[in-house]
Amino acid sequence: MFRPMSDAKSAATLSFSFDGRPLIGRDGDTVAASLLANGVDVCRETPVSGAPRAPYCLMGVCFECLVVIDGVGNRQGCMVPLRDGMTIETQHGRRQPEEMQG
Ligand code: FES
Repeated sequence: MFRPMSDAKSAATLSFSFDGRPLIGRDGDTVAASLLANGVDVCRETPVSGAPRAPYCLMGVCFECLVVIDGVGNRQGCMVPLRDGMTIETQHGRRQPEEMQG
């Protein structure tokens, strides 16, 4: 079970969406931390078996946190700071060709 180490009640709140669902995050948190703090436990599916995956290391090593951010796939959620208005989606399999332009 994930929970932030500090309350950081003074942090500004940011609005974003995950798979069309409106969510609230904290300024200064990463995309992966924000998803976990909102109870999102699956952010991608593997290309071969379609197995569900979720952020694991939170430091850029495991690549389990890949998501589509504002239409661009293969983004490591744990390395990207959350920004207000971000549109985040589950990555299904490998990055799609139409996502390669970002
Ligand atoms: S959670 Fe491991 S690389 Fe992002």
